[in-house]
Amino acid sequence: MTEQLKKAMNERHTVRKFDGTSLSDSEKSTLRSRVDELNQKYDLSIVLLESEKTPVNFIGKVVLGGAGVNTYFVLAADDREGIDEVLGYAGSDLCLYAQMNGLNTWWMAGTFNRKYVETQVRGKKIVSIIAVGHGQTQGVPHKSKDKDQVSSYTGEAPEWFENGVAAALLAPTALNKQDFHISGEGRKVSLTYKNGPMSGIDKGIVKHHFELGAGLENFEWV
Ligand SMILES: Cc1cc2nc3c(=O)[nH]c(=O)nc-3n(C[C@H](O)[C@H](O)[C@H](O)COP(=O)(O)O)c2cc1C
Repeated sequence: MTEQLKKAMNERHTVRKFDGTSLSDSEKSTLRSRVDELNQKYDLSIVLLESEKTPVNFIGKVVLGGAGVNTYFVLAADDREGIDEVLGYAGSDLCLYAQMNGLNTWWMAGTFNRKYVETQVRGKKIVSIIAVGHGQTQGVPHKSKDKDQVSSYTGEAPEWFENGVAAALLAPTALNKQDFHISGEGRKVSLTYKNGPMSGIDKGIVKHHFELGAGLENFEWV
């Protein structure tokens, strides 16, 4: 599974145009079983929803099916300290799991119709939605910062650290900011993210990618 998720990390790019077909029952149940696992493991309330309306809101009103996708994860949970990061981490897993299963994804933390989605998931904190479906294309790699701009290691960096940073640079971040810094010393690694409205979510996504790239057996977070 880890190898497949690592492969998916390289293949995943945001897709904003989908082919208009719905997910099959088997695709939906595959995704829902992963959602159930994550909800149990991290005490979350993520759901996979289908809608006639695509809950995408670019211009202040609901765009009906404009992007050719009608299935989306709602990243939701009871509000608590650090919940954005946990939901970011779980959302990243869902994107890679979807990719592994031949599907494409699109994070939307700012441009979805929050009022509409709130009517579907009541009483929870909703940090983002992720549209999931059959892309018209596979998307393209994002413009990326260099590893030296986002990381430092005391002494000579071991291979696992380099691999972790390379994986972190593949992570989707809001507005592609990549505003993180990863520092390592011995087996200890720390991750910081420049403060902003999406920094908690982005931090969780980057953390998830670093762990996959570096291998959890090689280091510990501090
Ligand atoms: C937390 C988060 C929020 C995002 N919100 C939006 C959004 O509201 N609208 C949008 O078009 N893209 C959104 N994106 C997609 C980013 O623009 C995209 O991930 C980034 O440019 C990197 O590209 P990649 O996903 O192809 O690697 C968001 C991504 C993240 C991680």
